[in-house]
Amino acid sequence: MRKNVFITLLAAASMAYSCQQGANKRSAEEIAGDSIEQKSFDAAIDGKDVKLYSLQNERLHVTLTNYGARLVSLHVKGKEGKQTDVILGYDTAEEFKQNASNYYGAIVGRYGNRIGNASFTLNGTAYELEKNNGENSLHGGKNGVYNKVWDVEQASDSAITLAYTSPDGEAGYPGTVTMKVTYSLTDDGGLVIDYNGSTDKETVLNLTNHAYFNLNGEGDSTILDHELQIDADAITEVNETLIPTGKSLAVAGTPFDFRKPQAIGSRIDTDDAQLKVGKGYDHNFELVKGEGFRKVATVYAPKTGIEMQILTTEPGLQFYSGNFMTETDPKGKGGKGYPFRSAFCLETQHFPDAPNQPSFPSTVLKPGEQYTSKTEYRFSVR
Ligand code: BGC
Repeated sequence: MRKNVFITLLAAASMAYSCQQGANKRSAEEIAGDSIEQKSFDAAIDGKDVKLYSLQNERLHVTLTNYGARLVSLHVKGKEGKQTDVILGYDTAEEFKQNASNYYGAIVGRYGNRIGNASFTLNGTAYELEKNNGENSLHGGKNGVYNKVWDVEQASDSAITLAYTSPDGEAGYPGTVTMKVTYSLTDDGGLVIDYNGSTDKETVLNLTNHAYFNLNGEGDSTILDHELQIDADAITEVNETLIPTGKSLAVAGTPFDFRKPQAIGSRIDTDDAQLKVGKGYDHNFELVKGEGFRKVATVYAPKTGIEMQILTTEPGLQFYSGNFMTETDPKGKGGKGYPFRSAFCLETQHFPDAPNQPSFPSTVLKPGEQYTSKTEYRFSVR
């Protein structure tokens, strides 16, 4: 083994160890109320160690795993200080692996969202991707980054950086791409996700986090009572396989108008062609342009009083209202069922199928360029 590789491995191992020590030290009292146990979460996937890590401050307590660089739990204080875990998941790494195609809490990519016919052409070369959604490729295919074990680069009580290098051709994508994702907590109730990437060959990259939220607490039966507001004047029209047609549809006068807060359930079952193809909301909202990192959406759950604001640098937001969830899905944390529309996803992103849609904001990444993206989920109670 080359000496520098060995040193890097040693550093990574000691980082993982000290992070675990830090997390274990406070596990007894401070993780009380968290259904996930650190030790029982440990596993080996693809021959690599998978562990549970913890970030905590006065406002938030988050657990994460290096399998898929994913969020496992996110405890927020609701009304009367009641601790509420607002994201869906499982108690063990094995269950996350078995149900990888739910994408619970994971970083999805290389291309988050769909690419039509699982193919695209870049500089005259056609690339065939893994088909995992009918004829399309969803969230990076079967070998997407959500299904890989990431390395922990640095960890403290308030931030963790995970890294993954995807080899040239993985899941059909060109270029060796190095990705880094840092999760950090802010003093005012924010969970920030910073994404970085670079490549050795021209490629496309579109990373996002796929947390399923229920601000009433995971396991609650519905999200239809949540009030949602999104700064978008238009959505990206999709066909029956949820691939963009290339057209934008103005939200004014449609069930997609969330410019003022609306209960998610208030118009979800109206007779609307786009709601029919999505079986509910499953659409890219074209965010109103602002200066860089800006607030783009707010969700409020009257039952717990928890409000979540979303801030991002991205041009799009996929709002998915859990339409493909069913009572018969494998049980989640603590054996809880996660039925139809009992969670929502709000995925900050570039638009679906952009590699095949020249009019959409570009997702091309060239050697020498840095891919950067930043999103914050900011929690408060009212
Ligand atoms: C997509 C849905 C898909 C879900 C899978 C979302 O990002 O928009 O169509 O069913 O991911 O979990």
